[in-house]
Amino acid sequence: MPLEPKESEAPLSRRDFLRTTATTAAVAAPYFVPASVFGAQAPSNRINVACIGVGNQGFLDLELFSAQPDCRMVAVCDVNQGSPGYKNPEDVRGREPARKLVEGLYAKQSRSGNYKGCDGYGDFREVLARDDVDAVVVVAPDHWHEAITIAAAKAGKDIYCEKPLGLTIAGQQRMIKAVRDNNRVLQTGSHERSNPYVREVCEMVRDGAIGKVRRVVCNIGRHNKVGPGPGWKPMPVPTNLDYDFWLGPAPEAPYHQDRCLYNFRFNYDYAGGQVTNFGAHSIDIAQWGLGMDHTGPTQIESLYADFLPEGSLFNASTYSDFRCKYDNGVVLECVTAEPAVRCAFFGDDGVVSIDNQGQNATVIPRGLAPEELQKRVKYHSGPDHVRNFLDCVKSRSEPAAPVEVGHRSATVCHMGNIALRLGGKFEWNPKTEKFEGGRSDEANAMLDREQRTTWSS
Ligand SMILES: NC(=O)c1ccc[n+]([C@@H]2O[C@H](COP(=O)([O-])OP(=O)(O)OC[C@H]3O[C@@H](n4cnc5c(N)ncnc54)[C@H](O)[C@@H]3O)[C@@H](O)[C@H]2O)c1
Repeated sequence: MPLEPKESEAPLSRRDFLRTTATTAAVAAPYFVPASVFGAQAPSNRINVACIGVGNQGFLDLELFSAQPDCRMVAVCDVNQGSPGYKNPEDVRGREPARKLVEGLYAKQSRSGNYKGCDGYGDFREVLARDDVDAVVVVAPDHWHEAITIAAAKAGKDIYCEKPLGLTIAGQQRMIKAVRDNNRVLQTGSHERSNPYVREVCEMVRDGAIGKVRRVVCNIGRHNKVGPGPGWKPMPVPTNLDYDFWLGPAPEAPYHQDRCLYNFRFNYDYAGGQVTNFGAHSIDIAQWGLGMDHTGPTQIESLYADFLPEGSLFNASTYSDFRCKYDNGVVLECVTAEPAVRCAFFGDDGVVSIDNQGQNATVIPRGLAPEELQKRVKYHSGPDHVRNFLDCVKSRSEPAAPVEVGHRSATVCHMGNIALRLGGKFEWNPKTEKFEGGRSDEANAMLDREQRTTWSS
């Protein structure tokens, strides 16, 4: 569906400008140079992209975007100049290694074997101030997604924002507003949306291949890192890292290496543990297969939650089990388990389960046999999601995982965390997006978080 331009004061981006002037020139000016002269490299065809946050996933996204012929990665931005200490502790990442990676990738494609033209920044606002940047990839930790996305939308940039969409339900609503008010394209980085294999499974479920769906089970994975326990000692801030900028909208806190790179996902100030990390994929598939993209459950109940001892740096739940109910009676259960199955749909006539890589589905006992499914759909992942985003930047159409869809899937994850932290059962109104009934005040107070004023949006 094309995005309707609104009568707002949305900024004219470089691409909007090029498109407008190209159209005007084609009609009015005989000296206009047609795009065919430049081919795929024509200024109006090429999408200049900057990647904000170049750590673990940022490096992967850099490679995926740089591989697209009509995309040019013109800038990378990170508050870490460069260091080891990421998911694989030996990997050196951050803005200088990222800049070198990009220039190396383009050098390989150039005749001279040399390439210069990707700039490194420590402050994303300088990236957004560049007129020649069309789109940004937001791959900073979750607590930064809202501020960077809103600033990018206001600056007229299109946005590929990694999953989960935001840190809070209210923050995500503000992101939607900024994206729509400024007529921007936003793709949420839940790449299974562009995996035709998963698409097929979701369509099968919605088309009744397993009869009436009664239950969906989603895996949310275990903590895959160990953090320091109570009594941990702050560490000196490394010179390569602008730690205050890393904290950004989050509360002030003493530095520890396990607070920041990669491990931030286990601390509730910056993320929601594996509930939002893995849940943003598995629960997203559940929402998709159930046809609930623009709504959500009406009830949520914490069944079991485990946390590390008070004072541990990792304070997100280590074991999570919560159950949601939708208005139509379908039950969604999200549970920490070995990640062999990402998401399983149970219906009256069978079961469909998708493995953790989104590469295999098992259909039992009726419907298609797994081999038939394999034949029908060839596995693709990541690059198609990036391709879909770039195509939508050009066509101004809705991408595979628009901001509202990313919001609704992440909302179920955030609701899960709220229930796990408070304990008990809560009623949710997906229209007003508020908890209702007994103890709703407590739960509604967790829809948003205070942000340090310098970064509030
Ligand atoms: N799509 C997927 O499957 C997938 C996989 C992994 C991570 N992710 C998402 O990507 C995001 C980043 O995760 P990660 O594992 O790469 O974390 P990471 O810690 O490895 O990398 C994040 C980088 O962002 C930098 N950063 C922090 N604040 C910044 C700011 N204000 N401006 C610029 N850079 C800043 C950090 O210094 C770090 O280098 C998370 O939201 C995560 O959920 C998505």
